[in-house]
Amino acid sequence: MLLYIHIPFCDSKCSYCAFNSYVDKFSQREKYMHALSMQLSYELERFGVSEMNLIETVFIGGGTPSTVDPTLYTKIFETIAPFLAPTVEITSEANPNSATYEWLEGMFAIGVNRISFGVQSFNDEKLKILGRAHNTAHALEAIKNAKKIGFENLSLDLIYGVAGDTKELLSNDIEHAFSLPIDHISLYSLTIEEETAFEKTPEIAREELKITQWLFEQIGSRGFKQYEISNFGKTRSNHNLGYWEGKNYIGLGAGAVGFLNDTRFYPSTNIEHYIEHPLEITEEILTPEALLSEKLFLGFRSCIGVDEKNLTLKQKKEADLLTREGILTYHNDHYFNPNFLLADEIALRVEGY
Ligand SMILES: C[S@@+](CC[C@H](N)C(=O)[O-])C[C@H]1O[C@@H](n2cnc3c(N)ncnc32)[C@H](O)[C@@H]1O
Ligand code: SF4
Repeated sequence: MLLYIHIPFCDSKCSYCAFNSYVDKFSQREKYMHALSMQLSYELERFGVSEMNLIETVFIGGGTPSTVDPTLYTKIFETIAPFLAPTVEITSEANPNSATYEWLEGMFAIGVNRISFGVQSFNDEKLKILGRAHNTAHALEAIKNAKKIGFENLSLDLIYGVAGDTKELLSNDIEHAFSLPIDHISLYSLTIEEETAFEKTPEIAREELKITQWLFEQIGSRGFKQYEISNFGKTRSNHNLGYWEGKNYIGLGAGAVGFLNDTRFYPSTNIEHYIEHPLEITEEILTPEALLSEKLFLGFRSCIGVDEKNLTLKQKKEADLLTREGILTYHNDHYFNPNFLLADEIALRVEGY
């Protein structure tokens, strides 16, 4: 069982971001955290969490979890304490400008053992273009502080495929990243989302296949293995792996999504409504076809692969053909895709049969 907790507050709205987050609702923070606790108690029961069915990973994402004081998380951590697996991975996202020494120390003290920093770039001009509230110095300091405090597992997010990116700029990003005590990188190509500032200037997104491949090689050659199209590490994120393996997850908060067997759960995305009605959750039952399609897309985009027992006879024949063509590999009853950039194409080809 996985647990995702959504914190929908941000200091400023980045030009590319469509995540459910607000810059003008900080006055709701305490009430919001209380509503999360109410939903949590309800979900622990609905998902049958117990000493026999423990929580393997927790991920606090956003929005910006570092805009909320660690003391406001304690109630949630007290509630889940009896149900945490001994090896539990507890990640929090953090923005370099709000992840102060005190905030990091407070989160470490309540049990967070992994931090994922939204760095995006180590170039101050690019950070301005992206609309970030932090600069390079903030990022370097926050990550070094996290290590000093005792966090062993540190990750950072980088964005590429932005107009103005040069090999030199991206090399500088990679060099800075590897000068830090991190064990994981999430590398995202800029996508233009609806209702973002970049929607009006879509030409800002410029992914070039050659640069993408070069970036993958740069990160790989420094010992971080690519285990999903956007994720590289000496250590993998068990929470990410859990999603791709199709594990059940509780989704707490405004804009979160939960998943149990074949059903998705959607709490309200509106903060005020969520605070008043944290148990008003919309359900969506997925068809067997939709579940299989998700297994194919996630499996071929990651090191999880696709279990042959999920495929129809015709789909299996197509996967065998792709294996003979050298596009897929096959072992332990699973098909694996060694080139994640081809994932969607392969998934569509297999799904079509
Ligand atoms: C939930 S978001 C934000 C985490 C945190 N608030 C931050 O900004 O540092 C996680 C990551 O998704 C990536 N991301 C969000 N929107 C994106 C977009 N439109 N294109 C590419 N990457 C995006 C960013 O790298 C971001 O750090
Ligand atoms: S990228 Fe992070 S900080 Fe920026 S708006 Fe999105 S969630 Fe907030």
